[in-house]
Amino acid sequence: MTTNTVTSIGSVPWLESFSIGHDSIDDEHRDLIQSFNEFCVRAAEDPHDTGLRPAAHGLIAKVEAHFASEEAIFPLIGYRRRLTHMREHLAVGNSLHSLLLNDTHMAPVDAAVAGRLILVEHILRHDLAVKTWVLHAAGQ
Ligand SMILES: [Fe+2]
Ligand SMILES: [Fe+2]
Repeated sequence: MTTNTVTSIGSVPWLESFSIGHDSIDDEHRDLIQSFNEFCVRAAEDPHDTGLRPAAHGLIAKVEAHFASEEAIFPLIGYRRRLTHMREHLAVGNSLHSLLLNDTHMAPVDAAVAGRLILVEHILRHDLAVKTWVLHAAGQ
């Protein structure tokens, strides 16, 4: 029996339960998940694709730009765990660098899937905790 690698990596769907109630941040999260899904497929299709490394650089740059836009709203909504959250962003960025650019022992698809998991876990564990402040600032 053969296994279709592209199918086995799955695709993380956007779920409304991921929403933190801030339109531009939710749009960025949706776009990042989609970008990671595409990167996982690309890494699964051809582990020797010379475009994977530049694509990884682009993906990390997109993640870091998102972190900057997310951190810019923290003071606007009175979010109190800014420093802890910013440290988490640094840790995620470091992990993605290690996985996608520095770790030569992992298969590209394994690194891509692990990177996607790190991003989704951050959204679920840390970004969703910001929702209370977003809603409060919006008077809800
Ligand atoms: Fe975050
Ligand atoms: Fe985020």
